[in-house]
Amino acid sequence: MTPKDTLGRPMRDLRISVTDRCNFRCVYCMPKEVFGRDFRFLDRGEILSFEEIARLAAIFVRLGIEKIRITGGEPLIRRDIEELVAQLARVPGLNDLTLTTNGSLLTRAKAQALRDAGLRRITISLDSLDDEVFRRMNDVKFPVSVVLDAIECAIAVGLTPVKVDTVVRRGMNEKGIVDLAARFRGTGVIPRFIEYMDVGNSNGWKMDDVVPAREVIATLGTQWPIVPVDANYYGEVAERWRYEDGAGEVGIISSVTRPFCSACTRARLSAEGKLYACLFASQGEDLRALLRGGASDEAIAARLGTVWQARDDRYSEIRTSNTPSGAKVEMSHIGG
Ligand code: GTP
Ligand code: 5AD
Ligand code: SF4
Ligand code: SF4
Repeated sequence: MTPKDTLGRPMRDLRISVTDRCNFRCVYCMPKEVFGRDFRFLDRGEILSFEEIARLAAIFVRLGIEKIRITGGEPLIRRDIEELVAQLARVPGLNDLTLTTNGSLLTRAKAQALRDAGLRRITISLDSLDDEVFRRMNDVKFPVSVVLDAIECAIAVGLTPVKVDTVVRRGMNEKGIVDLAARFRGTGVIPRFIEYMDVGNSNGWKMDDVVPAREVIATLGTQWPIVPVDANYYGEVAERWRYEDGAGEVGIISSVTRPFCSACTRARLSAEGKLYACLFASQGEDLRALLRGGASDEAIAARLGTVWQARDDRYSEIRTSNTPSGAKVEMSHIGG
């Protein structure tokens, strides 16, 4: 039943972007020069309703999707997002339901509402513990303390294990790696260090800006002995490492220097209902047209199967310095 693509990869994870808007302007994702006052975001009528998303999700799950991650932009900007969580939590056959947020709107009440609706765990992005560095990266002067409070709220309501995602960019925040790791040692929070990627066309990515995973591991290793741990599941993105002294684990996401396309089981649904088979795709399949054109569940399922079976994407594995920088979809559009 589960379709496999041309490289034998099954469809297992679905990442659903619920909005293309964000209240941050991270320099590596939504730089102000591009996402300024004149930028045209999607209109309300263009984005999928919760009912449309839930209907698609149920079809995806029947085709083999086991895990759903809600993303953005910033997903908590979407009003009453917990109602979508509740609808998704009711889809039979789903093993994992989670969300990635920048934490800025994650109050205790919001965290509780998400938990009550059926969210199981949460991932919060935080690039630095140093206010000056963090503000420079989010570019809207957002303070670290609010994100740290959000992490505490998530723990308090049981959205655990909380993961904290840090994009490491050379010359910006790599000096804060040890601080971040130290802050979360022994707390159950799992920090994950992500190599800065050339997603989209806006961020002016250069290989020199990437801090390779091996450097992050070496840096952590100078402070505390760490050892590799087996993946939790086939196709897990982060490499897992644990502290030998039992103080927890860290993750390393090395999509540039050690790509993981061969086990990539991820499908991505944009807020406007396009299906992307790769983070670096330039084109998506318009599922909204099917939904709004009155297609049956069977017809939509058949289309999804056809798209997945034709999939041959492995962008990170074939990335070279002379890769033509064609029109790639923006990260804020499909949520990473
Ligand atoms: P778990 O479910 O906790 O294992 O996490 P996840 O792997 O779904 O993690 P998350 O969504 O937090 O992803 C972390 C980051 O990894 C993303 O923001 C991206 O930067 C990167 N990433 C995730 N999936 C892919 C992928 O398919 N390709 C590439 N190149 N990067 C990815
Ligand atoms: N490279 C790596 N990670 C990125 N993210 C956004 N843009 C990039 C990029 N260019 C990450 C954010 C967040 C997640 C949604 O995607 O930091 O953790
Ligand atoms: Fe917003 Fe996340 Fe992109 Fe930063 S990385 S601009 S928080 S969507
Ligand atoms: Fe999957 Fe594309 Fe990322 Fe490779 S580059 S892991 S195919 S999303």
